[in-house]
Amino acid sequence: MKKITIAIDGFSSTGKSTLAKQLADWLDYIYVDTGAMYRAVTLFAMQKGFIEDARVDQGALENALKDISIDFKKNESTGVAEVFLNGINVEKQIRTLEVSALVSPVAAISAVRIKLVSQQQKLGQNKGVVMDGRDIATVVFPEAELKIFLDASAPTRAERRYKELIANGDEVSLEDVLANVVERDHIDSTRKDSPLVKAKDAIAIDNSHMNLEDQFHVILQLAKDRIAGRI
Ligand code: DC
Repeated sequence: MKKITIAIDGFSSTGKSTLAKQLADWLDYIYVDTGAMYRAVTLFAMQKGFIEDARVDQGALENALKDISIDFKKNESTGVAEVFLNGINVEKQIRTLEVSALVSPVAAISAVRIKLVSQQQKLGQNKGVVMDGRDIATVVFPEAELKIFLDASAPTRAERRYKELIANGDEVSLEDVLANVVERDHIDSTRKDSPLVKAKDAIAIDNSHMNLEDQFHVILQLAKDRIAGRI
């Protein structure tokens, strides 16, 4: 069967990764969580002391980019790909609110984007990939056969992320999570390099009032139609 590239972009906590994982499982495609890659670079910068008072030492991080290697490896018991930073599993560490609070300024640095975009393009070069992020349809794979742009209201998204963090044992307040969601939306969509925008040919879906199953079926049908060349 013909393999395609599926790009899923959208604001933070719109459920992009859940949808991308569902599609990749069903289609037997590779799933790439590009946000996790920006989060891993942010964790690296934090560990090296390149971030102080929420300010990133851009020069120091740029010089150290060659020392960063990011890989995904499947956790055999959960079946989910986890992120490794220089050989160490950082899947849990990169999901904290602390990393979320610092990732947008790191992701705004062009040298960081050049490195990660090039790795993302290699991961998807043979098609059969579902990739989620902010610039997948506009920069990483502008030729993707199916482009989805997800959105939901900020309070809905904050509540979803809050529940995830609490389930992970993080002690956070809904108020702080909402503030982070709003702040990241602003930085991600106003940065100079590859801002978050809907690609002209992307299909926009607001899932504020949609359950995961309904959303999955709508988008899976679109994917099947694209694969079969019906649309
Ligand atoms: O999807 P996420 O919330 O895990 O992404 C974390 C941050 O990484 C997000 O706030 C912006 C950045 N990002 C990006 O700039 N480009 C991408 N393709 C993916 C994420």
